[in-house]
Amino acid sequence: MIFPYHQNSLSFKAENFNLVDFERALPYHFSVLTFLHWRHLSAAALIIFTILFFPYAAHARENALNILYTGALKGELEPCGCSPETQSGGLARLSGYISTNRQQLSPYILVDAGNTFAEATAQGRFKNEAILRSFALMGYDAAALPSNKAIKAVKSGLKINISSDEKLVKKGMINILLSGKPVAELKAVKGWDVIISSSGEELNEPVASGKAVIVSGFPKGQKLGILSLKLNSKGKVIGSSHRWQALKQDVAEDPIVRAVLKDYDQKVAALLKEEELKPVSGGPYLGSESCIECHQPYVESWKATKHSAAFATLERVGKSKDPECVKCHTVGFGEECGFLSLKATPVLANVQCESCHGPGREHAADFSPLRPVGIEVCLKCHTHENSPLFDFQKYYEKIKH
Ligand code: HEC
Ligand code: HEC
Ligand code: HEC
Ligand code: HEC
Repeated sequence: MIFPYHQNSLSFKAENFNLVDFERALPYHFSVLTFLHWRHLSAAALIIFTILFFPYAAHARENALNILYTGALKGELEPCGCSPETQSGGLARLSGYISTNRQQLSPYILVDAGNTFAEATAQGRFKNEAILRSFALMGYDAAALPSNKAIKAVKSGLKINISSDEKLVKKGMINILLSGKPVAELKAVKGWDVIISSSGEELNEPVASGKAVIVSGFPKGQKLGILSLKLNSKGKVIGSSHRWQALKQDVAEDPIVRAVLKDYDQKVAALLKEEELKPVSGGPYLGSESCIECHQPYVESWKATKHSAAFATLERVGKSKDPECVKCHTVGFGEECGFLSLKATPVLANVQCESCHGPGREHAADFSPLRPVGIEVCLKCHTHENSPLFDFQKYYEKIKH
């Protein structure tokens, strides 16, 4: 498979990747990004812009332009993979999809409407860095990153003006606004041909408002929006059609973006290093080996369930040191003396007896009663997002002792 836009891509091994590198990696004029710095990424304000040279003009079909858009990514690099058949999205698939279908999609522009980043925690910053690297590799033409900088208009070939400032409509150009406002408010905004919201609203169909078409990026990048504009010979918009492209497991991943995500995993894992050195002992959790002497048959039946291999599952996908994953695949993560890492707390890996029955130290000493286990215990981990097919009766049959 050929991924054409990697020819002049950046080296993502560089430790100090920043927005300036991002700019260099972009094929188009993108100077406004030079002014951005990491500290701006935490700012809630959503104001940006961009204008570009349109490189396809020379050989473009005269009457069409595809706008490929994302928005409201909110730091999501990819779905967790807890329910691989149903989950959709992910930067590696997005890149794979665009690159394998480049021909059919051209001429196109690729834009992100904002609300792109995770919170600026240590892990969140690594996510944001991975997003920017992936955007650069994919050749995003514009992204509504947090900044206060204004825009310069540049034109060439098909004249397209992309901005996140409502006032910067340009005469004689195709005007595309990127906005964090909800669709209802955007109906009052005049002068734009296309408005792309990153409010996180799910729109099945675009909303028509005067001459504008309003669309909204699918939450967490689960689907790619494709708005096809019909243009007359002067490059004026005369119609449009829209579709959602799902990004399910049948979409081939781009290995280069996957490498960026792997790099992210390693950085997240490294965050654990210092914490791992703190000894953990004497907490309320014992681990299932301690239950064997009195409950052997239960331990046998548990070992036959997928719960007993839940940590190996994370190791298989390279996520065993990611706190966002570990919390449901172990015992007591985030609690005093609960699971911390395989090194620090090896006996608490996997979903074990005490994930359901609660801490067992007192019980093992004096047989005091443990908490009853009902559906509410399952739902802490079998959430709608992570286990969309969860059905208590059916699932209970598979794990009952
Ligand atoms: C601490 C979190 C947690 C709790 C609590 C929990 N589960 Fe799970 N469960 C998981 C994880 C994680 C997996 C996936 C394991 C794997 O495949 O590696 C799983 C998998 C399963 C599976 C296997 C699904 C399959 O594809 O066959 C069943 C069945 C199941 N759980 C039932 C239950 C029931 C019923 C309860 C409540 C009585 C429950 N679980 C409570 C985390 C939990
Ligand atoms: C809110 C709890 C929760 C979190 C957080 C969570 N998981 Fe899971 N995971 C589950 C449950 C529950 C299942 C079983 C789902 C089912 O079979 O219905 C599961 C199953 C899985 C599976 C097995 C899927 C299969 O059937 O092949 C993988 C892989 C997995 N999770 C990876 C991850 C990764 C990676 C992360 C972090 C990005 C993560 N999980 C975070 C609860 C969670
Ligand atoms: C996925 C959740 C889950 C896990 C993991 C789990 N159990 Fe249970 N267990 C239950 C449920 C549900 C019941 C029945 C309801 C109840 O007693 O609260 C139960 C019942 C029991 C009972 C009482 C049976 C009876 O007849 O009164 C024992 C003893 C027990 N479990 C021990 C264990 C041991 C030991 C382990 C670990 C090897 C374990 N369980 C792991 C959910 C779980
Ligand atoms: C030294 C023996 C011993 C050990 C170790 C032990 N148990 Fe028990 N457990 C018992 C006895 C005895 C009962 C029955 C108590 C009763 O019926 O009052 C029991 C009952 C239970 C029950 C069902 C009644 C209840 O309180 O919910 C569960 C669940 C259970 N044990 C889980 C565990 C788990 C989980 C572990 C390991 C963390 C464990 N036990 C370790 C002796 C033990």
